[in-house]
Amino acid sequence: MQAEKPPIKIAVGKATPEEIPLVLDIYRKRKADTWRVGCDNTYVARNAPGIVVGAVTFFETGPMTANIHSVGVDPAFEGKGVGKQLFKGVIEDLKNNGYRVIVVAYQNKNQWFYEKFGFKERNPSEMVLEL
Ligand SMILES: CC(C)(COP(=O)(O)OP(=O)(O)OC[C@H]1O[C@@H](n2cnc3c(N)ncnc32)[C@H](O)[C@@H]1OP(=O)(O)O)[C@@H](O)C(=O)NCCC(=O)NCCS
Repeated sequence: MQAEKPPIKIAVGKATPEEIPLVLDIYRKRKADTWRVGCDNTYVARNAPGIVVGAVTFFETGPMTANIHSVGVDPAFEGKGVGKQLFKGVIEDLKNNGYRVIVVAYQNKNQWFYEKFGFKERNPSEMVLEL
């Protein structure tokens, strides 16, 4: 499925305490896990007015390894390039912060999304990107 709506411009950054309820709301709508969500480990996508329209939460499993725990784009903003820009920003920031490996739990339903960024299947339950 191709994005039918024109892409919107977003800025990527770490979540502020005030934005955490918005992140939780998006994760609940997307049935993504809300466990582990904090300001230090959650990136948000902000649209032009500065509203949170997507989020990614990770946790560290080693000094150089980040596991992606939750990903969600507000359904009202789906298919507008938010997920792609957000994930690109997350990968770049993790790399700049010294991470060398990103791991995501592999699910058939979202494999297509991670393949776009070069993630490769490591085993039947995980996909990995070496930075
Ligand atoms: C997966 C998700 C993060 C994508 O976010 P999004 O903002 O809608 O995605 P984008 O608009 O940036 O599109 C990304 C790319 O995927 C493509 N795409 C969108 N839906 C697709 C689908 N169902 N199958 C295949 N490709 C798809 C788009 O065409 C685009 O590709 P392109 O730029 O090469 O044309 C979002 O749909 C979401 O939150 N889903 C629910 C939660 C989820 O499954 N998270 C994933 C891991 S937990």
